[in-house]
Amino acid sequence: MAKIIRLAILAVALFAFLQTTVAVTTHVVGDSTGWTVPPNNDLPFYAVWAAKQTFILGDILLFNFTTGQEDVARVTKEAFLICNSTNPISLITTGPANYSLNSTGEYYFIGTLNNNCAQGQRLAINVTTSPGPTASPVPRTMPENYTVGGNMGWIVPPLGEIAYITWAYNKTFIVGDTLVFNFLNGSDDVASVTKEAYNSCNFSTNLALYDNSPAYITLTATGEYFFTSTYQYHCALGQKLAINVTGSGTAYPPSSSAHSPSGSHGPTASPPSGITSAAPSRISGGYLFGILTIAMVVFY
Ligand SMILES: *[C@@H]1O[C@H](CO)[C@@H](O)[C@H](O)[C@H]1NC(C)=O
Ligand SMILES: *[C@@H]1O[C@H](CO)[C@@H](O)[C@H](O)[C@H]1NC(C)=O
Ligand SMILES: *[C@@H]1O[C@H](CO)[C@@H](O)[C@H](O)[C@H]1NC(C)=O
Ligand SMILES: *[C@@H]1O[C@H](CO)[C@@H](O)[C@H](O)[C@H]1NC(C)=O
Ligand SMILES: *[C@@H]1O[C@H](CO)[C@@H](O)[C@H](O)[C@H]1NC(C)=O
Ligand SMILES: *[C@@H]1O[C@H](CO)[C@@H](O)[C@H](O)[C@H]1NC(C)=O
Ligand SMILES: *[C@@H]1O[C@H](CO)[C@@H](O)[C@H](O)[C@H]1NC(C)=O
Ligand SMILES: *[C@@H]1O[C@H](CO)[C@@H](O)[C@H](O)[C@H]1NC(C)=O
Ligand SMILES: *[C@@H]1O[C@H](CO)[C@@H](O)[C@H](O)[C@H]1NC(C)=O
Ligand SMILES: *[C@@H]1O[C@H](CO)[C@@H](O)[C@H](O)[C@H]1NC(C)=O
Repeated sequence: MAKIIRLAILAVALFAFLQTTVAVTTHVVGDSTGWTVPPNNDLPFYAVWAAKQTFILGDILLFNFTTGQEDVARVTKEAFLICNSTNPISLITTGPANYSLNSTGEYYFIGTLNNNCAQGQRLAINVTTSPGPTASPVPRTMPENYTVGGNMGWIVPPLGEIAYITWAYNKTFIVGDTLVFNFLNGSDDVASVTKEAYNSCNFSTNLALYDNSPAYITLTATGEYFFTSTYQYHCALGQKLAINVTGSGTAYPPSSSAHSPSGSHGPTASPPSGITSAAPSRISGGYLFGILTIAMVVFY
């Protein structure tokens, strides 16, 4: 009898262990909004969402949409940038749908129905084999130079605006920091613009224009700063940067809401939801492995 109970416990532990080791992170695209035209004309909605996630090989994207009202096509980068839905790589018309991220690299998805893609129903992600370093912001008092976009510089980014959202995401900007924009003279520029201009890509009212590379822009006050290129289509294609400058030199978890036009989805400084929700499931495999090991030691 006792042996049967032991075996039953072991079987349950083994089952749980197998469940968690094969478990993958399912990213519900857009969280509770699902896969649709973003509300409130929030064009970068899915870029902001994606910037908070870490996509690991084997993860699943859950596109939650209503059959007939939306669909999801995987397309090339070129098609993504101009919302071209002709000859997609694949097309799923029945929702909700899971999409397995079974190879590393960049994935581009658009909604093909109506004018949905141009209205923001599009997603670009980069799938890697391991989670990157999740360094927490370190308190800092000395001003720094930040090269916008790192080695990529200030260009129309390949994945769209997610590039600069991601770049700014884990950085803390303090008064006195300098942004360094590297670009090609004559092919790009940097305009400091209002939040409205950043959101709408209508920068007829830019606050300052810099057309010599490298452009050094020192952040002289706290608050939100917005930058775009004034070259045609560059802003719409994602060459835009939003940052939040905090007064003190103390660590401040950057908020994605600075990059969100409506600010309607979470003006919180909480850690990226995707990372927090992904971590426990990845950790629990090891935890259950521990339980399983203990179970084996105890019962055998
Ligand atoms: C999908 O959307 C429906 C309707 O909004 C919602 O009830 C459901 O919980 C969503 N599913 C997931 C996995 O988020
Ligand atoms: C859209 O994609 C199709 C198929 O790849 C291509 O033939 C067409 O030229 C593209 N349209 C534009 C405007 O680039
Ligand atoms: C998608 O995956 C989730 C979790 O892996 C699962 O619960 C759900 O049933 C799947 N949905 C579809 C439509 O396959
Ligand atoms: C990845 O998934 C797609 C779609 O399900 C499939 O066509 C492709 O063969 C898979 N690739 C690998 C390497 O499993
Ligand atoms: C995608 O991730 C890989 C590995 O981290 C990186 O080398 C590559 O530059 C990334 N691509 C984009 C477009 O961010
Ligand atoms: C955080 O920023 C550093 C550079 O400042 C970068 O190397 C690192 O990959 C970023 N980490 C994440 C998780 O984005
Ligand atoms: C920022 O760059 C400028 C110009 O290269 C340089 O003079 C300055 O010392 C740098 N500041 C910091 C904090 O590195
Ligand atoms: C762009 O902004 C200017 C000034 O705010 C405004 O007059 C104009 O109508 C806007 N254009 C569009 C297309 O929204
Ligand atoms: C851009 O032009 C300025 C002024 O003409 C020049 O000083 C600078 O070196 C140029 N930058 C590049 C990257 O060519
Ligand atoms: C910018 O940072 C300040 C100071 O921490 C904060 O009060 C404000 O809410 C932030 N704004 C956004 C849009 O994140």
